[in-house]
Amino acid sequence: MMPANRVDRCVCHFVMFKDMLPLIDRLRQSGVDDEHTILDHLRTKTKCTTGCALCEPYIRQMIRTGQTQFVPLSFGHE
Ligand code: FES
Repeated sequence: MMPANRVDRCVCHFVMFKDMLPLIDRLRQSGVDDEHTILDHLRTKTKCTTGCALCEPYIRQMIRTGQTQFVPLSFGHE
């Protein structure tokens, strides 16, 4: 079972990262392979990153690697 503290979605817009993978695949099949362009498409389709934007670094990583679950990033001050 997945640990409860994994990041696996855009919580502002209730979009699971794994549900974005087919969109990324379709874009790549149509020749779009640029991270910025793919992120723009995902943003348009799902509204991801348009709320608090904390999901953006995870989504960028997903675009690069296909990974859909992440250990939460630390932003220091621990
Ligand atoms: S978690 Fe995605 S915009 Fe807030």
